Amino acid sequence: MNRREFLGGAGALAASTFVEQSSAAKLPASSQLNLAIIGPGSRGQQLMRTFLRVPGVRFAALCDIYEPRWDQARKITGENTRAFRDYRELLSAKDIDAIIVSTPLSLHSEHVTAALDSGHHVYGEKSMALTVEECGQMRDAVKKSGKHYQIGLQYHYAPWYREAIRLIASGKIGQVTQIYSYWHRNNSWRRPVPNNDPKLERLINWRLYREFSGGLVAELGSHHINFANEVFGAIPESAVGSGGVDFWKDGRETPDNVQVTYRYPGGKTLFFSAITTNRFIGCQVQVCGTGGTIVLTEADGTYYYEPKLGASAVPEGLAVEHGVVTGASYRAELPYRGQGQPIAVPAGTQGNPDFVACNSFIDSLRNNQRPKANEDVAWNCGVTVALGNYAIDHEARVKFADHVRA
Ligand SMILES: NC(=O)c1ccc[n+]([C@@H]2O[C@H](COP(=O)([O-])OP(=O)(O)OC[C@H]3O[C@@H](n4cnc5c(N)ncnc54)[C@H](O)[C@@H]3O)[C@@H](O)[C@H]2O)c1
Repeated sequence: MNRREFLGGAGALAASTFVEQSSAAKLPASSQLNLAIIGPGSRGQQLMRTFLRVPGVRFAALCDIYEPRWDQARKITGENTRAFRDYRELLSAKDIDAIIVSTPLSLHSEHVTAALDSGHHVYGEKSMALTVEECGQMRDAVKKSGKHYQIGLQYHYAPWYREAIRLIASGKIGQVTQIYSYWHRNNSWRRPVPNNDPKLERLINWRLYREFSGGLVAELGSHHINFANEVFGAIPESAVGSGGVDFWKDGRETPDNVQVTYRYPGGKTLFFSAITTNRFIGCQVQVCGTGGTIVLTEADGTYYYEPKLGASAVPEGLAVEHGVVTGASYRAELPYRGQGQPIAVPAGTQGNPDFVACNSFIDSLRNNQRPKANEDVAWNCGVTVALGNYAIDHEARVKFADHVRA
């Protein structure tokens, strides 16, 4: 993928006027939309509640191989909602407009592709798929189907993220050279298994097993990676990574800490770190520009101005003796401790990223407009995640050109 192809995908959505008609028919604005969900687990149930806040949306059916989910989901949709164990039965129902896929990562490719092939629009959870190959197959399947596909990267729609993108593009923080992003928490990432039944361990804790999961990079890093791809207008050229199962030695296979450095064209860099043993930093993205910094959290954004210093590395008027700067007047390079300026979100914008993302998907169906977080955005992010994991696993520099179509 070259820069032009990239801009045809993720880059294009910086423009709010981006509209692309597909072969799908336009629906009346007030029309009732029938959704169905494959995998109404933790995230799926959250999405169901959110979609139901959009006027004119109902859930016609659900599918989950784990039947306790049926009752949980029916508490949200109504006790008569049809439930299936096999997603193929759900897809054969004639009265469904769009499918939500919120199954574990390893199943996204199978479930999303089948939903598209059966003539449905899809809202599919992130990350796109487990492998680079599957991401490519899914992108092709979307394009072939003529249906709409939106990836569940809701921060792509967060008002303070959108405003940050606008400020960065306007030059507010100068030239952005590095993005440092962290998702640091202090818990095991393990979910309780009902009755400690070992047969349920992998179903409930799929995130901890490589067969199903891309670990911390896929589950957490994908949000930050998607942002960096948009800011830099490209996917990375290479990645180096490290990580391991170093603290929670409980039988898990995916690392409990990861660090990945992605190099983008022009030497721009994204550093992503996720750990599970300390939450001092929490979840934040620091966008470093020559004229300032923007820090984004899960709830807000802040801008920090960086006054220009003289061209010399040594403060003006300071005598440098014996080649070592030790004078009392030397100003240490302390961290910035100012307040910063909150990023104002444009008036009238609804603030909850989940709601904005779900509402936008429904708008896309009603107006037959290509979703902003479409299959190209998903692919850019999905392959960046997958190749970051490849770098961690192989403890090597991974060149993207060796793995993705140029
Ligand atoms: N966008 C976000 O912020 C966000 C947050 C959390 C999770 N997620 C994503 O949502 C997806 C699900 O995560 P989760 O935390 O809800 O997991 P979960 O385990 O709580 O839910 C997954 C559900 O899929 C069901 N399932 C498994 N195999 C199935 C099959 N073959 N057919 C039908 N159902 C099947 C499980 O029984 C379970 O109910 C993941 O891709 C995850 O990355 C996204």
